[in-house]
Amino acid sequence: MSERKKMTLPGLYAKVAEGTPITWLTCYDYPTAYLQDQAGVDMILVGDSLGMTMLGFDSTLPVTMEDMVRHTAAVRRGAPNVWLVGDMPYMTYQPSVETAIRHAGRFMAECGCDAVKLEGGVEMADRVAGIARAGIPVIGHLGLTPQSVSALGGFKLQGKGAAQAKKIVDDAKALQEAGAFCILLELVPDRLCQIITERAQHCIIMGLGSGPHAHGQLLIYHDAFALYPKFKPRMAKVFADAGAVIREGLNGYVKEVTAKTFPTQENWFGMPDAEFAELEKLLKGDTSGR
Ligand code: KIV
Repeated sequence: MSERKKMTLPGLYAKVAEGTPITWLTCYDYPTAYLQDQAGVDMILVGDSLGMTMLGFDSTLPVTMEDMVRHTAAVRRGAPNVWLVGDMPYMTYQPSVETAIRHAGRFMAECGCDAVKLEGGVEMADRVAGIARAGIPVIGHLGLTPQSVSALGGFKLQGKGAAQAKKIVDDAKALQEAGAFCILLELVPDRLCQIITERAQHCIIMGLGSGPHAHGQLLIYHDAFALYPKFKPRMAKVFADAGAVIREGLNGYVKEVTAKTFPTQENWFGMPDAEFAELEKLLKGDTSGR
């Protein structure tokens, strides 16, 4: 396992204070978590985007708490040193403050999370306050909030007009006052992100597709490594085409098995001659296995 020191909340604030951007990626499984920890990624979000990236749904809405617990605990096993954030799935916090605290607690107790994230602004401020009062670090999520994609009219830029931008600024203030230690701004204009970052008070502002001014950047792992087959959003950069590498390997596997060039002797195990002779003796006259 890696030699890194475990990322902590003071560690994240220290990065903000020194002006070093925080790195944050989504992750949903053990081996990828291991690689991200090795690479020195600061934070991991086990997003409910796993409904799309891992389970093949068209939205995040079908994702359950059981899905999240299973994947988040696996990520923690692979990445013991990152600041691990569990994403609260649809209807695990919207119904009431009590529901929100109970489900946030499951992420901490069953998955080893460091924090949870939920979507929404002022209307979710009491949920944020309740979770924070329970001693659980909370991240708010504003701008494009995928659980409300139907109400927002699709996966598109939020806060382009002044009135909607003002509402996002107000929402960010309400979340901070409620006790959010961090806010994710997804797909808002760069200058709106800059204003919110400049006004933040002891609150870390993270951006996804929202320009360079936030305290750090989040990317969806499957977008950054070309692993999501349906589309690549403009806000994502492909850092390596893992999809192409895997596809080439798969083609090779199919070709070699079909051509009987795999497996070769180094891929199998033999049996000592004496044992094989004994086996033949034991099987002589035994027709039960035929
Ligand atoms: O579920 C997720 O990965 C997210 C990101 C889109 C921010 O919430």
